[in-house]
Amino acid sequence: AMNHSMNHSMSNTIRNTMKVKEISVTALTGPQTEKADRHFELVAQKKQVKLSSGKTMEAWTFNGIAPGPELRVKQGQIVEVVLKNKDIEEGVTIHWHGYNVPNAEDGVAGVTQDSVPPGGTHVYRFEAKQAGTYWYHSHQQSAKQVIKGLFGSLIVEPNDLPQLNTKDITVLSHAWQLSDGSALTPTYGLKDTLDRQTIPAGTQVKLRLINAQNYPQTFQLSGVPFEVTAIDGNEIHSPTDIKDQKLMIAGGGRYDILFTMPKTPVRLSSRSEAGVTPGIVFSEAVTHSTPAINEKNAVFDPGTYGEKQPTPFGIHSKFDRTFNIVLDSRLGFYNGKIYALYTINGRVFPDTPMLTVKEGDLVKTTFINRGWDHHPMHLHGHTMLVLSRNGKPTTGSPWWTDSLDVAPGEVYEVAFQADNPGIWMDHCHNLWHAEKGMTMHLSYE
Ligand code: C2O
Ligand code: CU
Repeated sequence: AMNHSMNHSMSNTIRNTMKVKEISVTALTGPQTEKADRHFELVAQKKQVKLSSGKTMEAWTFNGIAPGPELRVKQGQIVEVVLKNKDIEEGVTIHWHGYNVPNAEDGVAGVTQDSVPPGGTHVYRFEAKQAGTYWYHSHQQSAKQVIKGLFGSLIVEPNDLPQLNTKDITVLSHAWQLSDGSALTPTYGLKDTLDRQTIPAGTQVKLRLINAQNYPQTFQLSGVPFEVTAIDGNEIHSPTDIKDQKLMIAGGGRYDILFTMPKTPVRLSSRSEAGVTPGIVFSEAVTHSTPAINEKNAVFDPGTYGEKQPTPFGIHSKFDRTFNIVLDSRLGFYNGKIYALYTINGRVFPDTPMLTVKEGDLVKTTFINRGWDHHPMHLHGHTMLVLSRNGKPTTGSPWWTDSLDVAPGEVYEVAFQADNPGIWMDHCHNLWHAEKGMTMHLSYE
């Protein structure tokens, strides 16, 4: 094991230093010698799995289940994950989506490591510095591998809070491609039928909503007021109760919500381009009443929610670098056929711009969507602060994100501190768009 992890860090180090100059080796790898507090093994393997409706598919799983096992750790722990690939021919990796790990642990095939071939092993090590709701997924041919099931949730519990008596439920939503046809089936886990869960009235319920689909998903919680307590793992300052608002979560994005279980049933459902999930009904006892879904409800605005709080930088800061990123599409060749290609500043990867920064730089990026599709922009290794949306500065709680849905016609200004050296991807998390051009890299000079 010792030899293996040394080889692993060596090859990553070489790979990174080829592109990233004058960065010390330790900055790029996770803790190498400390004993891990938590150890997990994830085995990528093909498996026939059954949805709750009885429909089956060949899923690509971690440890035989899809989604893969939830990795739940405590803030501050050193986490070690051994990835083994049993039979996925194209190879696999694990990327910690939204988690700012050292570069060599980022799990991007061809950038921070080679993909792990069948029979191969790779060890990831990182310190769980950020608390919150995250997820992991393969980053080798991600569009295909995530849709087939190579993903799971990563939950980091804060170590500084007393254990509240809260029922903590992860809702990992996904659209499966069934073996029998082309339609996508949206589910929470493997439930594509209405799920019922019994929760006593008065219980605090925390739902960790994770959108593992390519499209924005509009979640609706009917029958109870609730708070949005975190976005993409980042706590909201002074959240207030909202009711009957729909939550639009970007592809790859996460919202934590909190409510007190009433005596009457509560229903969670969602809609995306893949369709409507039947959802989950939470109730005190088995009941047939299901609160209605109201499509006409207003959409929640994270730019005005909660209370202002000081941030290390903001809209009036002096930025060391600024980038304008225009998102669009055009027709072009892909694998010898004509397809819609997704462009950044008119170009498709690898001709897209390289965002080059220096360690310590304060960076502003403006995303401008001139196309017809939503583009959930995902930056690896860093967390972005939203400064403004369509020319309007944000006024609520600081809105930190790693997966920002930029809808057609929208303009967002975001900022981040370049504090994690390496070479990082910045791409659309509609993984088909990423594959067909909408990918770029952030690198440190
Ligand atoms: Cu969740 Cu580069 O991806
Ligand atoms: Cu896109």
